[in-house]
Amino acid sequence: MQPTVRSGVAPFYVMEVMRAAEAREAAGLPVLHLEVGQPSTPAPAGARRAAIEAIESQTLGYTGAAGLPALRRGLSDWYRRRHDLDVAPERIVVTTGASGSCVLGFLALFEAGDRVAVLEPGYPCYRNDLEVLGIDVVPVPVGHETGFRPTIEQLEGLGPLAGLIVASPSNPTGTVLGTDLLGPLTAWARAGGVRLIVDEIYHGITYGEPTPTALANGDDVIVFNSFSKYFSMTGWRVGWIVAPPAVAAAVEKLAQSLTVAPPTVGQIAAIAALDCVDELETNVARYRTNRDIVLDGLVAAGLDRSAPADGAFYVWTDVSAVGVDSQELCRRWLDETGVAVTPGIDFDRPRGHDFVRFSYAGAGADLREAMDRLADWLGRHG
Ligand SMILES: Cc1ncc(COP(=O)(O)O)c(C=O)c1O
Repeated sequence: MQPTVRSGVAPFYVMEVMRAAEAREAAGLPVLHLEVGQPSTPAPAGARRAAIEAIESQTLGYTGAAGLPALRRGLSDWYRRRHDLDVAPERIVVTTGASGSCVLGFLALFEAGDRVAVLEPGYPCYRNDLEVLGIDVVPVPVGHETGFRPTIEQLEGLGPLAGLIVASPSNPTGTVLGTDLLGPLTAWARAGGVRLIVDEIYHGITYGEPTPTALANGDDVIVFNSFSKYFSMTGWRVGWIVAPPAVAAAVEKLAQSLTVAPPTVGQIAAIAALDCVDELETNVARYRTNRDIVLDGLVAAGLDRSAPADGAFYVWTDVSAVGVDSQELCRRWLDETGVAVTPGIDFDRPRGHDFVRFSYAGAGADLREAMDRLADWLGRHG
């Protein structure tokens, strides 16, 4: 039996790297993991304690489709504490990770056949989800010239759009969109009736000035977020959407049918995680040190064309000077140095052959060793 045409999404090439890394480890050979896109730390201690207590004392049945009222209120407080913003709990719908926010959000915001712009390089699931839903994907190539940010002129040249999706900080480039761009972007979207979605899943993991949320630009901006990255809770599967009330209500109604509710134990842990900022900031401090190790290591190895890396825990690096397609390069680095890195084609189909993504979410000592090995390899193959 053949599956549907629309289910034929592009595979994740990073999975190939992960499979090859596992095979190498199964053969007893060590691997330095710079391919994984998740924190190497567990959920904060307070979140874990809350989960254990809940498992031992509660039924843990379904919650409402929009999530636990206490979590929606907790997130509303979070915006007040962190950003001095009033975001009513009714505008917040808890989802099964930002992945859940994508599916439910896209369904609530776009019709089949709509044209929606996504940045290239960008997170591949936007494109895949939109394609599955019959929405036309309009790529917006961004590169070194603009610090991997889109420009208003570029967007104006795209023709009529129903939506634009950006991530700040971005996966894979680490680019942060500051108020200097988010303000004009929101004004442009508002003027043209374009629905602006800002994926803030890496919010909190930034290394410069505190990053404002896009919600500060108005109640018509749609934000996706999650407990996966800053809160170090990928496997707990809890995210959220902030949207105007009518869209939030539509997301809730869709969730009733598509997912029933996000995981209950994850939501209980998430409520506690909101009070674990000290521990979470320790993680961010470690990412900051790791980022310098990788950026300095790459420059020392002769790879000096990387995206700004102002946030998230990735460095997106141009490896075209090596003269080997990035997919082949990642295969060789794994085989010949034991360093696992993600090839760029997951994030940028046309130009990703020239780029790789380094994740620095792991241990500093491993990253130093990885940089030394790559410098040595590049020295021998330069
Ligand atoms: C930019 C971006 N958005 C969304 C997601 C989905 O995350 P989750 O479903 O774990 O919240 C990821 C995961 O890596 C991501 O990098």
